[in-house]
Amino acid sequence: MVRDSYSLEITSTSEKETSRIARDFANLLKGGDVVALIGELGSGKTFFVKKIAEELGFDGYVSSPTFTILNIYEASTYLYHFDFYRLKNIEEIEKIGFSDLLMEEGIFFIEWPEKAEELLPEEYFKVRIDIINATYRNLSIKKIAKSEDEKCQN
Ligand SMILES: Nc1ncnc2c1ncn2[C@@H]1O[C@H](COP(=O)(O)OP(=O)(O)OP(=O)(O)O)[C@@H](O)[C@H]1O
Ligand SMILES: [Mg+2]
Repeated sequence: MVRDSYSLEITSTSEKETSRIARDFANLLKGGDVVALIGELGSGKTFFVKKIAEELGFDGYVSSPTFTILNIYEASTYLYHFDFYRLKNIEEIEKIGFSDLLMEEGIFFIEWPEKAEELLPEEYFKVRIDIINATYRNLSIKKIAKSEDEKCQN
């Protein structure tokens, strides 16, 4: 199934192109999915989530959760948009109830997931955005299955 082996590496040359990539990806997502977004400040993680939220029917304003830590959008399903940038460690992430929230119905987006790698589920989508210049971004979207990663290393 496409979802299980999803892997895309593409250079986006504009916001418009990133929007299209995000919208295509949005249509693959189902309730319970976790999307971890990796990339430096200003690479476009929030932008990517905003376009997904729009595609999934949210008609409000998607703002950065850097200060709120979590924004929730009501779309075709609930969308939980986390940003761990300001959280120091796993304890702080657990304190906001992250693991409990993951059991809710919905789709989960996490900016700066590096801070909570061990709290991520067995399977998730990893979106990596690398800045090339003001408008060019390298995008990589991959389905991760942690146990298969371990098998590869053995
Ligand atoms: N090709 C592109 N794809 C995505 N965003 C782009 C592109 N070109 C320019 N941008 C701009 O890059 C910026 C990305 O900002 P955004 O807030 O999404 O970054 P972020 O990765 O969430 O940063 P932070 O780590 O601070 O939360 C936006 O202003 C967006 O318009
Ligand atoms: Mg952001």
